[in-house]
Amino acid sequence: MHVVWDICVILQTYIICTSSVPSFWGLVNSAWNLCAIGKRQSPIDIETTHMIFDPYLTPLRLNTGGRKMGGTMYNTGKHVSLRPDKAHLVNISGGPLGYSYRLEEIRLHFGSEDSHGSEHLLNGQGFPGEVQLIHYNQDLYTNYTEAAKSPHGVAVVSIFIKLSENSNAFLNRMLNRDTITRINYKHDAFLLMGLNIADLYPDTTRYITYEGSITIPPCYETATWILINKPIYVTQMQMHSLRLLSQNEPYKIFLSMSDNTRPTQPLLQRCIRTNINFSKQGRDCPNNRALRPQYRVNQWLLK
Ligand SMILES: *[C@@H]1O[C@H](CO)[C@@H](O)[C@H](O)[C@H]1NC(C)=O
Ligand SMILES: *[C@@H]1O[C@H](CO)[C@@H](O)[C@H](O)[C@H]1NC(C)=O
Ligand SMILES: *[C@@H]1O[C@H](CO)[C@@H](O)[C@H](O)[C@H]1NC(C)=O
Repeated sequence: MHVVWDICVILQTYIICTSSVPSFWGLVNSAWNLCAIGKRQSPIDIETTHMIFDPYLTPLRLNTGGRKMGGTMYNTGKHVSLRPDKAHLVNISGGPLGYSYRLEEIRLHFGSEDSHGSEHLLNGQGFPGEVQLIHYNQDLYTNYTEAAKSPHGVAVVSIFIKLSENSNAFLNRMLNRDTITRINYKHDAFLLMGLNIADLYPDTTRYITYEGSITIPPCYETATWILINKPIYVTQMQMHSLRLLSQNEPYKIFLSMSDNTRPTQPLLQRCIRTNINFSKQGRDCPNNRALRPQYRVNQWLLK
């Protein structure tokens, strides 16, 4: 196997890679190939008529050990990223997950206009932003790097951001002017203490889940996505502050970080499951998709 893989890397030609080791597609593949030809890529447009109610989906469990968390907030040039320090371990389990997953990073996506900015869409509609809580499978793997390229490696909890007068308590710690202006430029970092991760989660047990990929290269198809069925809020001012972050170092030209999203990818043969009981049931996915037009989008847009 290693020999084949080495050849792939050297020749950089997916014809050889993919035709010789089809059973390894998505596990061992050259970075760009998977982004281009993968069949379980993220993000996607969630078409609610395609969702299937799965009565066996239990609520997601968040384990903080009752402790607050510290973490470092970074301007990576592409995202606002918060990495928890190693002393405060947070994990999730339950829901669609068969393992326990440790929080590795919280990542913010946002748009230059209020009409878009989320990576996932809902019936074709974007949101001003999306928070992604990226976790790795701590039962099977020793770190994120190893997990990201391995089966069942990653679980991403995704929460849409909308605008309002009041801000989510957790996001307010990150996005108030004193804090967010500390990371104006690429590589800037700022330490935050006493964060309660539970504050980030909206008050609902409802979610939508599907199997997909990491949304940045190498686009490994190892991620279980869990989209929470309620948005969280930031103020117009905080969204404005985000748009003023630069992708560049201070001595280079200002280039707004906004619109840091990957376009949606085709759903293809995948299922979108939910624990929202919209009365039509089905565990026979994906064949019966067309028969489930009952779900009302309004349910998603509750505050
Ligand atoms: C998950 O977090 C809880 C609370 O911090 C902790 O008790 C538990 O041991 C963790 N699970 C694993 C598998 O590390
Ligand atoms: C992650 O774990 C693998 C396997 O245990 C190890 O080889 C690698 O050095 C680790 N990487 C990091 C960044 O810690
Ligand atoms: C889903 O909702 C329908 C209609 O309200 C109800 O009859 C059914 O028992 C519910 N199923 C579950 C698993 O809650």
